[in-house]
Amino acid sequence: MANHIIIKKKINNFNEKIQVSSDKSISIRSVLLASQAVGTSKISNLLESEDVLNSLKTIKKLGINYIKRNKIYYIQGFGLNGFKIKKQTVLNAGNSGTLARLILGLLVRSRTEVKLVGDNSLSKRDFSRVIKPLKLFGVNIKSKKNLLPIRILGTDFLRPIKYNENIGSAQVKTCIIFSALNTPGVTEIQSKKSRNHTELMLKFLKYPIKIVKKNQYEKIIIPGLKQINNFKYHIPGDISSASFFIVLTLLSNNSKIIIEKVNVNKSRLGIIYILNMMGANIVLKKKRIYNGEEIADIHVQSKKNFNAINCPSKYNSSAIDEFLIIFLVAAKAKGVSRFKDLGEMNKKESKRLDLAIKFLKLIGIRVNRIKNDIKIYGNPNLVLSKSFEMKNFLKDHRIFFLSCITALTLGGKWRINDKDSINTSFPDFLKTLKKLGANIN
Ligand code: S3P
Repeated sequence: MANHIIIKKKINNFNEKIQVSSDKSISIRSVLLASQAVGTSKISNLLESEDVLNSLKTIKKLGINYIKRNKIYYIQGFGLNGFKIKKQTVLNAGNSGTLARLILGLLVRSRTEVKLVGDNSLSKRDFSRVIKPLKLFGVNIKSKKNLLPIRILGTDFLRPIKYNENIGSAQVKTCIIFSALNTPGVTEIQSKKSRNHTELMLKFLKYPIKIVKKNQYEKIIIPGLKQINNFKYHIPGDISSASFFIVLTLLSNNSKIIIEKVNVNKSRLGIIYILNMMGANIVLKKKRIYNGEEIADIHVQSKKNFNAINCPSKYNSSAIDEFLIIFLVAAKAKGVSRFKDLGEMNKKESKRLDLAIKFLKLIGIRVNRIKNDIKIYGNPNLVLSKSFEMKNFLKDHRIFFLSCITALTLGGKWRINDKDSINTSFPDFLKTLKKLGANIN
């Protein structure tokens, strides 16, 4: 089957209620924590995307059984470090940086060496950010140039650490928290703020983790070797997936959308704050707490004019996966938008900052870059009519989504390759667009 799509027409106006795919970060964490619980955990509305299916395959290879019955995943854990690892086990994290970094934290006490590999994109990503703290715990870990493949062999002589996590990476923070669960004594992380799903899930599971909030930082205190009991968890919608539909609606004519039951944890809300500062009127309704996480329905309507923004870098971590699509709004805004210190974007599934700049130039937008700061010269009259072909050589799902939303809101004749990349995070993406009336071949 063809692995490209053709879009030749903008989307007509729509007024719909939709749901987007379940949250990827929370899905992966729920699977990995269920593998460490005592007894059978039940997870409903689990995201069935490749990153999460690879997480399930990973725990299975480590001796943890699961079954799916009536849309619920039943995962049977044997407590912390309850993996049964065969010799020469190779784990394949596929495209998922989150899975790769998090699973290392759960292997710190393994008695058998495990090899971790990934796809082309993941094999280009740097793991020094987790190798460094893991070595401080006392773990044996080998890799060439801090890249995959990585070989990890745990130890019975783990020591708790005090670590300053200053990238603002939730993957690094969670890798350390997972290692701390397996380590006797108390580990302390001084952590630059980043998404806090792991901490909230552990609190929900009554694990005695403590968080002390400071200005820019949080101190996270994790006593090790406490039992995690089996649990029931329902996964909410993913705001990163919702972001593409938010911008689709904003940039379309006379359209409205309600995106139901989306996770609106503050550590993920950068996109809402930023777009509202640019003149959008995105409203969160029916806010409620579910399993320790806040969820809401997101109401959005089209808007004719957007202001440029001087984006405060305090939003960088809470919008890190959404800047690609935020830049599209900046491209249509009146004036010059400024975004600072976005180096982390280049450490994702592809070098997203470099690609975003290429993309904006391709659609006729002037961009200036100094190091990791960019200026986007918006053009409120931007309309596309040329032919475009998007090649996405590292098959980055979010580059694919961005291209589709651009085609459907700005026009032009688009051939967008690597359709399969949607399976990483949002397998129903094209179906959901078609439900809104998009013409996609
Ligand atoms: C994620 C954290 C973020 C994000 C990624 C998912 C997570 O990465 O970009 O898509 O689930 O912890 P970093 O923590 O490296 O910034």
